[in-house]
Amino acid sequence: MFPYLAIILFVESTAAEIFSETVGKVIVTQNTCSVMPHRVWKRLGSSGPKPLGEYPPETIKFLMTWVHTAHGVESRLENMLLKWDEQSICFDRPTTLILKKAADGGSFSDFMNKFSYLEVPEHWVVRKDEDDLESWRNVKIDECSTTNDVTYHCPESAFKDSCTQADLEKCSVRMEINSSEDFFTFSRRLGRSHLVATKALIGTIIRNGNIFDVKPVELPQRIFKITLAKTDMMSIGTSLLKY
Ligand SMILES: *[C@@H]1O[C@H](CO)[C@@H](O)[C@H](O)[C@H]1NC(C)=O
Repeated sequence: MFPYLAIILFVESTAAEIFSETVGKVIVTQNTCSVMPHRVWKRLGSSGPKPLGEYPPETIKFLMTWVHTAHGVESRLENMLLKWDEQSICFDRPTTLILKKAADGGSFSDFMNKFSYLEVPEHWVVRKDEDDLESWRNVKIDECSTTNDVTYHCPESAFKDSCTQADLEKCSVRMEINSSEDFFTFSRRLGRSHLVATKALIGTIIRNGNIFDVKPVELPQRIFKITLAKTDMMSIGTSLLKY
């Protein structure tokens, strides 16, 4: 009986339900090297790499075509040729990833007098398969540059020492809040949504900022994510949520 109980408690205390919102995209430029086939190498002459200007235009065209068909990228040839050697040729290859914000929903203690959650890193990048949490990696967004807060250009160093969702505890801090108040409500922003933990069973939608145009809504869950319409506000317990 006891070991069984211990296992259940362990699972409950580490399981984090992660909520997320897609907020943009990240372009990472990775330096990629690949082996140059003999037929390509032959076209460049056997004396080793020369400055770009010393090759005839048709050789340069051939090389660009090879890079494009072999790797599916346009690359600046000048940079590429600076890094080649007899074996391989290197170029900067941009990869586009999905940028998400994430937060742990948290949990209430047995008597609902304590609410705890993991303060996880805020920004994550994801490849196409969003369900595969193991492939998520957090990114230090302040090392990236952006002009519109949607598309970020990130150096590889922005992923240094990053966590995956599988080792989340490593880069998170556990927070605990006294939730003994009857209508305890704790809300956090998550992109355009809100992540709410509440003991209230009913919330109120206020439409167009008009306190006479209100609609009560039942809250089926204690912890949930909600996205409001632009014109709406919502009051839950002691919190007022705005778009
Ligand atoms: C939590 O807050 C209540 C009042 O809201 C207080 O009576 C209680 O002692 C607090 N508990 C802790 C552990 O601080």
